[in-house]
Amino acid sequence: MQLLHTKQELKKYLFPLISKSKTLGLVPTMGALHLGHVSLIQKAYHENEHVVVSIFVNPTQFNNADDLKKYPKTLDKDIALIKKVSPDIIIYAPSVEEIYENQVKAEKYNFEGLDVVMEGEFRAGHFDGVGTIVEELLTSIKPNRAYFGEKDFQQLQIIKKLVAIKNIPVKIIGCAIVREENGLAMSSRNERLSPKLRQRASFIYETLSTAKEKFGTKSALEVTNWVKGQFEKEEDFKLEYFQITDIDRLKPLKRKLKNKQYRAFIAVFADDVRLIDNIAL
Ligand code: PAF
Repeated sequence: MQLLHTKQELKKYLFPLISKSKTLGLVPTMGALHLGHVSLIQKAYHENEHVVVSIFVNPTQFNNADDLKKYPKTLDKDIALIKKVSPDIIIYAPSVEEIYENQVKAEKYNFEGLDVVMEGEFRAGHFDGVGTIVEELLTSIKPNRAYFGEKDFQQLQIIKKLVAIKNIPVKIIGCAIVREENGLAMSSRNERLSPKLRQRASFIYETLSTAKEKFGTKSALEVTNWVKGQFEKEEDFKLEYFQITDIDRLKPLKRKLKNKQYRAFIAVFADDVRLIDNIAL
């Protein structure tokens, strides 16, 4: 198991391994790995000769200092989990200084409106932070393919846009959401829920699934009002947003069109833990 910490080590160890006939897959993570990450790592491992998993809690994408402070750091556990997929997988775990040097600051991007709705509306600057670290990882590791989960579907679309506007030669691969037994989307933040709340959080996916059903016959507004009504009756969960958009431009839906694909997105607070999820409609 190779554990690298610096760009210099990447150059020394990684680049000689990569030749034209061998592909490199990258799975960027912030650690606190769960089975959702494992499914990305397995997919990358099956599709490429070499795989790098990066582990870096990126400060510039946290709009809330407390959230950053509380973000779980479990490097030894993460390494053990990656090793189980394969000891050949290379781990890149740089420090904040290695990535940002003296200035912990995000670049500013024009994501053509993809970043102004939903997560962008409620987490100011978040996607500039994500863009900054993902651009840095893609340009320093130079993978052929990079893997991202659809739980962060808006992030996935923004990363595809980033790669297009910056002309980065990599294929961005979106991977299906992995759920806990009760339907709750896997997330590192689930660890912070009390056992009772974690069980009850099945409510989020149940609501999304019923919203999907209702979308077959009802308008986006009717479905949205129904979801809001469900959350008003709930003491344990506070709805931050529920939004139905098309999947390409992420524009809130006004009128359903036949040939367009839509998705419903949700953000919910369970105590002080913020959970997001989405479903294809
Ligand atoms: O999805 C995540 O875990 C992060 O946003 C990412 C893509 C690793 C960038 O820090």
